[in-house]
Amino acid sequence: MSHLIAPSILAADFANLQKEIEMVNQSEADWFHIDVMDGVFVPNISFGMPVISAIKKHAKKPMDVHLMIVDPDKFIKDFKKAGADILTVHYEVCNHLHRTVQTIKQEGMQAGVSLNPHTPVAVLEDIIADLDMVLIMSVNPGFGGQSFIENTYKKIKQLRELIKKTGSKALIEVDGGVSDQNIEKLVDTGANVLVAGSFVFKSKNPKETIKKLKRL
Ligand code: DX5
Ligand code: ZN
Repeated sequence: MSHLIAPSILAADFANLQKEIEMVNQSEADWFHIDVMDGVFVPNISFGMPVISAIKKHAKKPMDVHLMIVDPDKFIKDFKKAGADILTVHYEVCNHLHRTVQTIKQEGMQAGVSLNPHTPVAVLEDIIADLDMVLIMSVNPGFGGQSFIENTYKKIKQLRELIKKTGSKALIEVDGGVSDQNIEKLVDTGANVLVAGSFVFKSKNPKETIKKLKRL
């Protein structure tokens, strides 16, 4: 399977959101990556259900919703209603992660779990078989445009081994500071899905940039 590209809407021009969504629809991108921040788990607030529902109206590709919020269980049904296809929660906020993952699946979505840069891959050992995706944060969550953390490669390797050992079907997604400078090495190390925010939306020709990332 060749790698998937998920442009992060956080870096889009919100005043021209429909235009930005159409650009992604027409590009070689595979998914929409949608970052929800609550100002509690992370020191920033992004957007919530009304904006996600509005994106869904125009999006012709799967919606990969990354929740950077405390207590995600409260809102699983609402994110489904708003249009999420893949719902990712953070390991660091889930006391009953197994239950959370099962609920996401019962609601008919794919379930992902995200790890902060300081959280070891090994904590997923007893849940990996149930996951559709693991999102490795390659920056501290909260903002776009930060520099990529090099320790990510080690974590991808460890996760690849854990997936192999357990026979899990989980995809490995990497999020934060992804660009044409690191995407090849990330894919070679074992990443399946690459999120790119600033590198895509702040470039002169985002559609061409996506094409380039897809073909590297
Ligand atoms: C960061 C978000 C990322 C962000 C990536 O907390 O989870 O998805 O949009 O942005 P870039 O690609 O600019 O690092
Ligand atoms: Zn994200």
